[in-house]
Order: sequence, then C-alpha cells, then structure tokens
Amino acid sequence: MKSPTKKSVRPGSLGVLILAAGKGTRMRSELPKVLHPIGGRPMIYYLLRLANALKPEGIGLVVGHEIERVKKAVLDGVKDWGISRPVTFIHQKEQKGSGSAVLESMSFLKKHQTAIVTCGDSPLLTFDTMFSLLSGHRSEKHQVSLLTARFRDPKGYGRIVRSPMGEVLKIIEDSHCTPKEAAINEINSGTYCFEVELLTEAVKKLVPKGSKKEFYLTDCLEHIRSEGGRVTGFPSPSPEEALGVNTRIHLAQAERVLNRRALERLMLSGVSILDPNHTYVDVDVEIGQDSVIHPGTILRGKTKIGKGCEIGPFSVIQDSQIGNECSVINSYMEEARLHEKSSVGPFARLRPGTIAGPRARIGNFSEIKNSRIGYGSKVPHLSYVGDADIAEDVNIGAGTITCNYDGVKKNPTTIGAKAFIGSNVNLVAPVKIGRGATVGAGSTITEDVPDGNLAIARERQTNKVRK
Ligand code: UD1
Ligand code: CA
Repeated sequence: MKSPTKKSVRPGSLGVLILAAGKGTRMRSELPKVLHPIGGRPMIYYLLRLANALKPEGIGLVVGHEIERVKKAVLDGVKDWGISRPVTFIHQKEQKGSGSAVLESMSFLKKHQTAIVTCGDSPLLTFDTMFSLLSGHRSEKHQVSLLTARFRDPKGYGRIVRSPMGEVLKIIEDSHCTPKEAAINEINSGTYCFEVELLTEAVKKLVPKGSKKEFYLTDCLEHIRSEGGRVTGFPSPSPEEALGVNTRIHLAQAERVLNRRALERLMLSGVSILDPNHTYVDVDVEIGQDSVIHPGTILRGKTKIGKGCEIGPFSVIQDSQIGNECSVINSYMEEARLHEKSSVGPFARLRPGTIAGPRARIGNFSEIKNSRIGYGSKVPHLSYVGDADIAEDVNIGAGTITCNYDGVKKNPTTIGAKAFIGSNVNLVAPVKIGRGATVGAGSTITEDVPDGNLAIARERQTNKVRK
C-alpha cells in the first residue's frame, strides 16, 4: 500500500534543496558564510536565483547558524531578487553535517519526486550546467546524478572513486583519503540530483563520522549502490563552477570569476573595457553600447550607464544612473544621477541625492550632496554644494560653497536660471538667488537676492600708504 505522503507527490515534481546551515568556520567571520557579499550580492542570492530559474515546485533552504539573520536577509531579498517559487526554511538545529541537513529536510523532500541538493557556498554554478544535469537525469532516468569536476588541486574536496567501467562507486572526503585516493583529481561539487525515494532510504542509514561526528551526505551514494541503485557522474563543462567557498581565498577567487563573467557580458554587448584585469563591476551593472570603461574603475550595485559614455580612469560609481554621452573621470558617485552629456571630474564627489544635467559640468574638487544642478549649469572648481536647487545655465565660481548647516538642521539654497555666482562666495542658507542675478566674488550672502540684481557683500578695499 502506498503511504499517504507518496500519494501527494505529483509525478515529475522537482524540489531544490540548498544547504546553508553551516557556520562557515573557515571564513573566520562574524557574518554567516552565505551572507558574505560577492559581485554586490550576498552569496545565497546566486543559489536562490539559480534554483528559481530551474522552475521547481519548491525551494528548501536549510538554515541553522545565525538563523534569524540569514532568514531576514533572504526574506528582505526575495522580491528584489526575483524569486517567484515558494521558499521553505528548514531549521537544522544542530549542524551535524550535510547528511543531517538532508535528514532534517525530509518533510520538504518528500513532497517531490526528484530533488536537486546543492550547497549555499557554490555561487559559481550556472543555469546551463544545472539544466543539463537535470535534463540528463530525467531523460536517462538516472537514480542519482552527481555534478563533478576535474581540479588540478583537488585538496579539500570529496574525491570521486569510479569503477574501471566509469561508474561512480563512492565519494571519499578529503580528510579520509588514502594517499592514492587523495591523488584522484575528480571532485564532488556538492550538487546532486536524486530520486527522492532512494535518498530517503539512504539518508536513514548514515552514521556519524570523523572527529566531529558528522553525517556525510556523500555516504548516501554507497548506501544507494548497496541497494542496487546506480550513481551517474556528470563532469561539469567548466570546472570553475564547482568552486566551494570555504575560506576568504575562495571568496576572492569566486569574486574574480563573477567579475570576469560580468565584464564579458558587457564587452559582448558592445562596451569597451580597456583593461578587464583592472576593472570591477557588480553582477547587476548595466552599460550602453559604445561606452568606454577605463582602467581602475569600480562600478557597484545597481549602477546603470547609458550609451557612448567615458567612465574612468579611476572612478567609483555606486547605485547611480548615468545618461548617454556622459563622462566621469577620476571621481566618486553614490546614489546620484547624471542626465545626458554631462561631465564629472576629474576629482569630484557626487553624494546621494545629486541630480545633474543634461549638459552639466561638475569638476575639479567639487562636492555635491542632495542637490539639483540644472541644464548646462557648471560647478567646475573647488565648491561644496549641499541641499541646493540650481536651475539652468548657472555658473558657480571657484571656491563657492553653500553654508547649508546651521549646527542644528540642513537648510536649502535656491539659485535661479542664468545666475552668475562669483568666486569664493558663501551662500548662507536658507537663501534664494534670483533668476539672472549676479553675486560678486568673495561675498557672504545672508539675504535673498532678487531677480536680475547684483549683490556684493564684502568689505570695500582700502589701499593705504605704508609708513
Ligand atoms: C562538501 C562535501 C564534499 C564536496 C564539497 C564541495 C560533504 C560531507 N562533503 O564538503 O564532498 O567536495 O562540499 O564544495 O558533504 N551544511 C549544512 N549543515 C551542516 C553542515 C553543512 O547546511 O550541518 C551546509 C553548509 O552551509 C554548506 C554545505 O552544507 O553550504 C557544505 O558544507 P561544507 O562544510 O562547506 O562542506 P565541505 O567541507 O565543503
Ligand atoms: Ca564547502
């Protein structure tokens, strides 16, 4: 007689189980391993995106170490990350190894006929590889398909022991390898496709092993084989995908690969990256055709750059939008927006809330914060502009600053179109400079200037004959 759980399994139903409960001891970090940022996203994002793309009926996420922190990051992220498939959190109370993580996940797994089991520390896996693993598993009616890879240095990974006919016999963990086994360079990626019925039986037979008395998921393969099952090894077409991030060294390796992939995607879409070895972009960065990215440029977060721009050398741009034909040379931008044909730098800093252009110019040691710089307006040298609204065709002279902070609150400055502010002016906010007004160099402006007026607020020069 069939068990009630079996009845509820839809034929062909797929579940993806991501193991992410471990502490990540080797990272030596306060931050749970799967939340470490890479390519501008927490590591777990890549696994959830991948799982989601396989269109499973459900995604199970095994959590344990710092459970609340990991859950919160995932719950806060899922919508933004485009995760549409239901995610079930599975609480592994004691981190007793990958086998125990799967054992704790039985109620999730039993809802599915087939399960992909993967590790939260494998951010380089690609959809194409996972899809091939799954399609091969299904079309060939495999019982267990195992993603493997050949590594020049297999240290730290489970080794794949095959029969002379090439059938996978077992996986031996690194710490249990004989010298002969240690020389095997085919490794376990930690990603598997199981028929759930077989996995369920095998996982029950696991016994604790090693100095930490852990249950190894990898031992399931031998149990499945002893019941007459077959395990098929599927070597990954690109071995780098099998990287498991255990230490900060692996984290840097993974970051490098994601960076390379992002740069290749951009170059193939028509962006010139002059030196890919010295250009760093997060995975979500978008850049339009015929833009040129010079060395030493770092593009972070959700930065979006238009067509025909010149960016760098040595610019850092975070979560900013840049229109077509802009240039940003040797400058910093954060949560700022540039409209087309504007130029920034060298040596400018655009802080959050800056909106400039079209055709604006911000250069040479100017800092802008929470301000609008209108069409064709210029802040070309050594200025601080904070909480200001500057209309079109305004010229701000060298060394001019808005005195926006009175020690208690931030006050606004408004400057009308075509106003001319001379050099070294202090605009003591709140203050309004009218349309077409002129402010004499060196003035400290504390009162509003009406449209078209000339304001001078400085000591008259006296020349005295020295005795
Ligand atoms: C594991 C495999 C190894 C494989 C390697 C690939 C086992 C026993 N070994 O080793 O064969 O070559 O991955 O990268 O599976 N986890 C839990 N709960 C636990 C322990 C771990 O959820 O109690 C999770 C971790 O968060 C991690 C994953 O399982 O995402 C793998 O654990 P980890 O300790 O990194 O295993 P490895 O030593 O890398
Ligand atoms: Ca690992």
